[in-house]
Amino acid sequence: MAYTVPKLKDFSPAALDKAVEKLLAAIGDESDAVRNDADKKAFRDRWLARKDGILTQVNDLWLKPAPKEAKREVGQRVNKLKAEVEAKVEAALAQKPSAAAESAIDISLPGIRRPIGAEHPIIRTQNDIVGVFKNLGYSVAEGPVIETDYYNFEALNFPPNHPARDTQDTLFLANQESKSRREQLLLRTHTSPVQIRTMEKMKPPIRIVIPGKVHRNDPPDASHSPMFHQIEGLAVDTNITFGDLKGTLDHAMKALFGSDVKTSFRPSFFPFTEPSAEMFVSCFICGGSGKRGSDPCRPCKQTGWIEILGCGMVDPSVFEFVKGNGYEPEKISGFAFGMGVDRIAMLKYGLDDLQLFFQGDVRFLEQFG
Ligand code: PHE
Repeated sequence: MAYTVPKLKDFSPAALDKAVEKLLAAIGDESDAVRNDADKKAFRDRWLARKDGILTQVNDLWLKPAPKEAKREVGQRVNKLKAEVEAKVEAALAQKPSAAAESAIDISLPGIRRPIGAEHPIIRTQNDIVGVFKNLGYSVAEGPVIETDYYNFEALNFPPNHPARDTQDTLFLANQESKSRREQLLLRTHTSPVQIRTMEKMKPPIRIVIPGKVHRNDPPDASHSPMFHQIEGLAVDTNITFGDLKGTLDHAMKALFGSDVKTSFRPSFFPFTEPSAEMFVSCFICGGSGKRGSDPCRPCKQTGWIEILGCGMVDPSVFEFVKGNGYEPEKISGFAFGMGVDRIAMLKYGLDDLQLFFQGDVRFLEQFG
């Protein structure tokens, strides 16, 4: 209970001493509890405020009503008390806050709520895909997003000035003219350069998947973004065949989209694979019919097939670049594939606008928590 100044009935010296003792005990306790500036102000006001401070009350309740014969005794004590109270308040005001007091935590405050985050739908899709290949014994490799011309193009069998480079809408870094062509920097247009980086470091056999960001000079719209994500795959060993490629990818698609999807491989061209193919899966939205009820199926454009990735057998001329590390084209073979994660995530979550992934709108992202 906070101290209050009592009215006195007994003005005998003994009774006065007792009342003074109580008051001093109270101010002692209260000054010990002063911690910060707000406390200091409250403490000063409580004891010294002209209007209704405790000293004023002592004056009003003890001195004024004292009978004539006790006035002297009371007066002396009140004067002494005044000096002591003022000294105490002054000491409390001068007190520096202790480090502990400064960092003291007010446990009655509501606290800081940290909303729990969630995996971004693209990262989740990426992890799902990587997980399928991990189960097949693949390991995960990564490489730089800012890449050299050598790794992004030359070692992947895109010779300088070859028209195949045009398909890649490359974003080049500025002020690279003083460097040799091979060393000039660009934003990698695909995850394929990490094929080379991995083969430089690891001898065959290898089985790796490579997730990561890639960039192309495409203006953003509902199905394009200058930044997107790919997952690359590479398997190199003795006697790897196109049958291994088909079997592996067919298994992966069934694991990802359901055991009743079918795969279809159609001839294509990439400088770093030969032969090359584009792989389609039967549309897991319309079941391959191209129709949803009487409506056309939009995700597969009514064809019943969705293009998922590019792939092929590693071109021997790619192995030439890493031959010294055990990749002799006569002895080994391999397959590679590369798929776009963002498009797969769109299909999986039924989205019609790619930009939703990159706008950071919490109302959108929260739905994946
Ligand atoms: N890198 C190719 C692309 O981005 C895809 C690909 C990867 C094709 C590996 C074949 C083998 O278009």
